[in-house]
Amino acid sequence: MEPEPEAAANIEFSENDRSLKTHPREKKLIDFREKLYLAPLTTVGNLPFRRVCKGLGADITCGEMAMCTNLLQGQASEWALLRRHSSEDLFGVQICGAYPDTVARTVELIEQECTVDFIDINMGCPIDIVVNKGAGSALLTKPMRMKGIVQAASGTVDIPITIKVRTAYFEGKNRIDSLIADMGNWGASTVTIWSITTATLQQACRLGICVPVC
Ligand SMILES: Cc1cc2nc3c(=O)[nH]c(=O)nc-3n(C[C@H](O)[C@H](O)[C@H](O)COP(=O)(O)O)c2cc1C
Repeated sequence: MEPEPEAAANIEFSENDRSLKTHPREKKLIDFREKLYLAPLTTVGNLPFRRVCKGLGADITCGEMAMCTNLLQGQASEWALLRRHSSEDLFGVQICGAYPDTVARTVELIEQECTVDFIDINMGCPIDIVVNKGAGSALLTKPMRMKGIVQAASGTVDIPITIKVRTAYFEGKNRIDSLIADMGNWGASTVTIWSITTATLQQACRLGICVPVC
């Protein structure tokens, strides 16, 4: 049976729409080679600090981690974390979320509202309030959820999606090196690795050697 003309038009529109999406391999590449990247630093790496660091030679800068749930609620203080100084010529923002749909909606809004060169998803944050919600480094224990988030984010926007991870959550389990190649296929443009596991960091914190940071 022939489809109704109106229904056929709808099908054609949605297929065109899908075919117009940028494939991960077609996204603009950020060349990190030979460049000094100022890592995202919650509570430290605010806009004035980054401005000073740009003056001191930083090439690439990244905003402080913003929580997807807070951004989606429209919290002005969270959106302020995504602000860019005019001197930041290669600039990314970092977000943290636990679910593909919330992360996808967040990157969509960022693409609409901000001018950024990349969006970094924090999958390495060790702090309890984040990990207990299934975000940050808790994702290292759920590779399929990681995959869902990277694919959803990358498939939603044309801006490159980068990922921040740790070597693992627990020593010797779900090591990130077994996933790195997959992350590229899922749509991540770059992966940066913080070389200490969450469990080791938490133990060091219990011993008073350090404090947990995002
Ligand atoms: C105060 C502080 C805040 C940090 N905040 C973040 C953050 O928000 N997001 C993130 O991905 N990493 C964060 N990190 C980790 C750093 O980006 C970096 O990966 C880490 O310090 C390892 O680099 P280092 O060995 O040179 O210290 C933070 C680190 C520190 C010391």
